[in-house]
Amino acid sequence: MPDFDTVLRTRQSVRGYTPQPLTRALIDEVFSLAALAPSNCNVQPWQVHVVSRAVLRALGHAMTEAARSGQPPAPDVPMISRYEGPFRHRQIDAAKALYGAMGIARNDHDGRAAAFLRNLDAFGAPHAAFLFLPEGFDLREAADLGGYAQTLMLAMASRGIGSCAQGALSLYPEIVRAHLGLVQGPRLIMGIAFGYKDPDHPANAAHTDRAALADIVHHHGDT
Ligand SMILES: Cc1cc2nc3c(=O)[nH]c(=O)nc-3n(C[C@H](O)[C@H](O)[C@H](O)COP(=O)(O)O)c2cc1C
Repeated sequence: MPDFDTVLRTRQSVRGYTPQPLTRALIDEVFSLAALAPSNCNVQPWQVHVVSRAVLRALGHAMTEAARSGQPPAPDVPMISRYEGPFRHRQIDAAKALYGAMGIARNDHDGRAAAFLRNLDAFGAPHAAFLFLPEGFDLREAADLGGYAQTLMLAMASRGIGSCAQGALSLYPEIVRAHLGLVQGPRLIMGIAFGYKDPDHPANAAHTDRAALADIVHHHGDT
């Protein structure tokens, strides 16, 4: 198993998968590790629905068709699609890396739209986890859910499993609930596609960098 730093440095968002499913034992292993994530008062404010193979394809098809037919997204939690200031620059850089890797030109609107639609089918992954924030929780507990998501993705990376967190999988929560037979209440925050990385898929050649440490971490007092 790779050491922790290697796991952190080699995890990337995987946007192209082989069809090979994970074994149920391996899925249970990584989700058991994810459950070790800390949370406010240890309330563990997360509900997870793992959707696999034919059921995921049917759900992906329904969401893709909804988007294609112009159905407006109605996420449980509003989504900002265009950030501001330095965050906008980072957003643009990430898009450039992704579309550049896929050979999609900046003014190729159809190409970009098609690339976006791949999101709604979880990039063809054999599995996706849908992460819900149970009723009664808000922003602070959503932060816990983010920690859960990252713990899960690192556990997966440590075992050679690729993943991609996807806000896009939360754009049509009503369709997700309808397909999975879920009740209203818990809010869908994100999906996470997962499976084995297709090393030949061009989207997986995209690599992002990170802001300088001094732009992120501010010190007060002696260090
Ligand atoms: C909560 C969350 C939502 C995300 N939503 C999407 C998404 O909808 N589609 C997508 O392609 N990538 C999505 N990403 C992946 C980010 O674009 C990616 O993490 C970022 O560009 C850094 O790249 P890396 O994960 O390869 O290090 C999301 C990541 C997070 C953490």
